[in-house]
Amino acid sequence: MKIAIVGCGSRHKMFRDSVVEDYPEKHEIVALCDSNAHRLNEAAKAVSQPGTNGVATYLAADFDRLIAEQKPDTVVVATPDFLHSDYIIRAFEAGCDVICEKPLTIDLSRLKQIVDTQRRTGRKIKVTFNYRYSPARTQIKELIASGTIGEVTAVDFRWHLDRVHGADYFRRWHRQKENSGGLLVHKSTHHFDLLNWWLGTAPVEVLASGRRAFYRPEMAVELGLEGRGARCTGCPVAAKCDFDLKMGEDAALKSLYLDAEADDGYFRDLCVFDEEIGIEDTMQAHIRYASGVTANYTLTAYSPWEGLEIKFQGTKGEITHRHVEVHGVFGGERDHADEDAITTELNLAGQKPVMLEVPKAKGHHGGADPVMLGYIFDPEGMEPDRFGRASDHVAGAWSILTGIAANASIETGSLVNIPSMLRSRGIHIGA
Ligand SMILES: NC(=O)c1ccc[n+]([C@@H]2O[C@H](COP(=O)([O-])OP(=O)(O)OC[C@H]3O[C@@H](n4cnc5c(N)ncnc54)[C@H](O)[C@@H]3O)[C@@H](O)[C@H]2O)c1
Repeated sequence: MKIAIVGCGSRHKMFRDSVVEDYPEKHEIVALCDSNAHRLNEAAKAVSQPGTNGVATYLAADFDRLIAEQKPDTVVVATPDFLHSDYIIRAFEAGCDVICEKPLTIDLSRLKQIVDTQRRTGRKIKVTFNYRYSPARTQIKELIASGTIGEVTAVDFRWHLDRVHGADYFRRWHRQKENSGGLLVHKSTHHFDLLNWWLGTAPVEVLASGRRAFYRPEMAVELGLEGRGARCTGCPVAAKCDFDLKMGEDAALKSLYLDAEADDGYFRDLCVFDEEIGIEDTMQAHIRYASGVTANYTLTAYSPWEGLEIKFQGTKGEITHRHVEVHGVFGGERDHADEDAITTELNLAGQKPVMLEVPKAKGHHGGADPVMLGYIFDPEGMEPDRFGRASDHVAGAWSILTGIAANASIETGSLVNIPSMLRSRGIHIGA
């Protein structure tokens, strides 16, 4: 496969390194594209093989020329979220397939453009829901699909982002809904996708609430950070701020962002307490699914620890799954939990509860990324996927619809019906 990557920031490395290091015999990166010349050149250095002329690079304005000259089969889209739809559509129109980072897109008008263009062109897209591939999450899929707890009736799902990872969404482009859709789209797309996939159904109604409770100017004052600067670099109170991002002291952050600032003014370290932030940090949603199952969902972005807790109630019993990814942030350092911090308890009616053995794997996102990359870049070399983990535009669409409906519900204070919302915009997604 001839691959072009668009968006050469932090996430593109996963695709780039996988192709270059793990699948060089099967695939070739023929071009890189970014709006920032510095990041583009850094990425090109990493791809270029010794003894070759290197890889072709194109600034964003030259994307059409990239397609015409390099004729990629597949375009990997790893730009900020609000730009996904533009590149997906242009790639489809040019006869390319797409591998797209989550979320598929951030709002209904862009979603309509994607599904309409996909239907007309017949091109294929994979949305990279890596969380599906972590062995612990796949085990839950298997338990539910095999009817272990009978019919699932109700779910309680809580996701905690800590004060390093959570804070990161308040520093840069994610902090405005017009860029990311807010965390209910940008982040929860993973969680709502897991629910759709685990439960084998689609969301119908959403009632949500959300607010910015922590990353606010008032909290900065409460934390003794009066006189804070607009960004960490040069901030007069950086020394006493737990959220100080020292880009200059981190080689990766420095070369990817600090050294690239002059090109486009993309500051990676804006103050997390800014007034102008437009996204929530505290969100709850009640969701009703087509199958009748209902779910309560909570996402917070300033937890003392990081991980997830979920309980599935069924007609025969319960599954309780807990994953501690980070125990806490101590002096700015994250104390990562080890692999044993994942537990799954099965509690069947009339039987003593048992702690199940949770399968483990090495690699990013609980061992999910390498498995997903195997299915993307070497499907013949993998076992047939009996869990249906590959995701297309349909799964991508359903995963953002819960968050888009939740955003609408927060805005209006009303329950949002997803089929009506789709009908009103003339959007036909498919099953
Ligand atoms: N699945 C996961 O676990 C995961 C993790 C991180 C990021 N992501 C996703 O990956 C994507 C990229 O995130 P990131 O953290 O790498 O962001 P980033 O800001 O580090 O990188 C984005 C890159 O896109 C470039 N860009 C901006 N405008 C562009 C344009 N018009 N044309 C081409 N390039 C442009 C930027 O210069 C930058 O190099 C996002 O959609 C994000 O949701 C997914």
